[in-house]
Amino acid sequence: MALRILCILLAVSLLASPLAADHPEHARHAMVAAQEPLATDVGVAVLRAGGNAVDAAVAVAFALAVTHPSAGNLGGGGFLLLRLANGESTFLDFRERAPAKSTHDMYLGPGGKPTGDSITGWRAAGVPGTVSGLETAHRKFGSKPWAELVAPAARLARGFPISYAFAKSLESHAELLNRFPESKRIFLRNGKYYEPGEIFAQPELRRTLERIARGGAHEFYEGETARKLAEAMEANGGLITAGDLKSYRTVERKPLTGAYRGYSIITAPPPSSGGVGLLQMMGMLEGTNYQDNGAESAAAIHFVAEVMRRYYADRSEYLADPDFFRVPVSRLLDKKYIAARRSTIQPGKASTSAEIRAGNVALAESSETTHLSIVDEKGNAVALTYTINGGYGCGVTAPGLGFLLNNEMDDFAVKPGEPNMFGLVQGESNAIQPNKRPLSSMTPTILLKDGKLFMVVGAPGGSRIITGVLQVILNVIDFGMNVQDAIDAPRFHHQWMPDRLYLERGFSPDTIALLKARGHTVDSASSVANVEAVVVQPDGWLAGGSDRRAHGKAAGF
Ligand code: GLY
Repeated sequence: MALRILCILLAVSLLASPLAADHPEHARHAMVAAQEPLATDVGVAVLRAGGNAVDAAVAVAFALAVTHPSAGNLGGGGFLLLRLANGESTFLDFRERAPAKSTHDMYLGPGGKPTGDSITGWRAAGVPGTVSGLETAHRKFGSKPWAELVAPAARLARGFPISYAFAKSLESHAELLNRFPESKRIFLRNGKYYEPGEIFAQPELRRTLERIARGGAHEFYEGETARKLAEAMEANGGLITAGDLKSYRTVERKPLTGAYRGYSIITAPPPSSGGVGLLQMMGMLEGTNYQDNGAESAAAIHFVAEVMRRYYADRSEYLADPDFFRVPVSRLLDKKYIAARRSTIQPGKASTSAEIRAGNVALAESSETTHLSIVDEKGNAVALTYTINGGYGCGVTAPGLGFLLNNEMDDFAVKPGEPNMFGLVQGESNAIQPNKRPLSSMTPTILLKDGKLFMVVGAPGGSRIITGVLQVILNVIDFGMNVQDAIDAPRFHHQWMPDRLYLERGFSPDTIALLKARGHTVDSASSVANVEAVVVQPDGWLAGGSDRRAHGKAAGF
């Protein structure tokens, strides 16, 4: 009897505990947080076998190309931010590049109207950077043999059980995938859609991965893969040539650094707009006590949204590929400039985006993407975000190669001043030029406390990546949440244009009414980014958080 009462009390206390569903994953030594569980398991296995964080990141990224093809990829590009346990950090830019044949108005039709070719089909693809980026990371910082890190992905390509989420994702992208015979055959089984639990085998992708395991990036950019890709491009009116592939290079850049309330921030430099955004928005917030109003209060949301509005106005004008445009980073992050921007925010009244233009800065200087955060046993940390832009990219699978191509050309200002697929209005600085990298919002970021690793974070989510990553960091630092609570909390987004405050589900009607009363035009958002993060707790344990908006997993040992 006593045992029964004890069991009932235990069950009731578990049900009543508000934290029961919100614990992060804890591990003593190493942690992987990624957007698909099989890929997370690949990373944990590499770390258990003595691989370092870069080894694990390479293996997880290849695995995601197989198990999460809406965003994981060989045919896209991204950024890898690394902080070594010895305190050094670096940033690898393997963003796609515009093919050499690209021109300023290549996606404009009669009357200057965008044709849509920057979004769908062969002409939408930029020169892929992923394989070069992963190989560069491995060559400089990896410890395990390359082939060992590609092998798990090739094994998964032999077949893995389709999850409910993946089956539904394929079905919901049927309209796009149906338009291209190879994509229709591989991903939609020519209309006989995959059911959850069925085995999904990708023999062409397996063979491509096996060639990459043997021949490295050379195989992708100059070998059989390059030849087949260039031939298919030519046959289908695409722009990428053998020369574009051969000349592709990953660029190592200096990460952007800054500080927020005693934490050091290491983040993504241009051609990402994420790091500048994060640091400018944090700068505007640091001069205030906005957080005293409480997480999810209308007053706090209003203030942060006004900060977002101001940064995205600057983004539209001043952010682009730094190899083509002198991005005025230090002016955008100048304390006086930031204070002046902050001083225009009224606590009780929304601005209108029409009145907020980009600040007067002298020119001195997904929604489908995926992210993984990894910390290894020695304290090395990797934040890697990579993408093919839209879900399943441009919809094209290169025949015989098994991987989807990106539609990253739409991240350029296809028509400066007009919105792209994320509704982002961008300026001439981000216009198309041959060999240029399109502006990105990807924001892989690492935080330190007292010089020691504190947090690794990043997200997919198109233009909402920057605001999603910002809010998770604010939830941890300003509102004291654990990493899983910080990720789970409802998020909001403002990107200047369109002049809308987007709210996820979960905000109370009272809060929404108060925001409207301040003058915000409120709209709903199905999600504002999908964050994967690891926090190093004061007791030295690692806490991993994986976004429940997606279907990923944090795990470690
Ligand atoms: N393709 C999304 C981004 O790079 O921002």
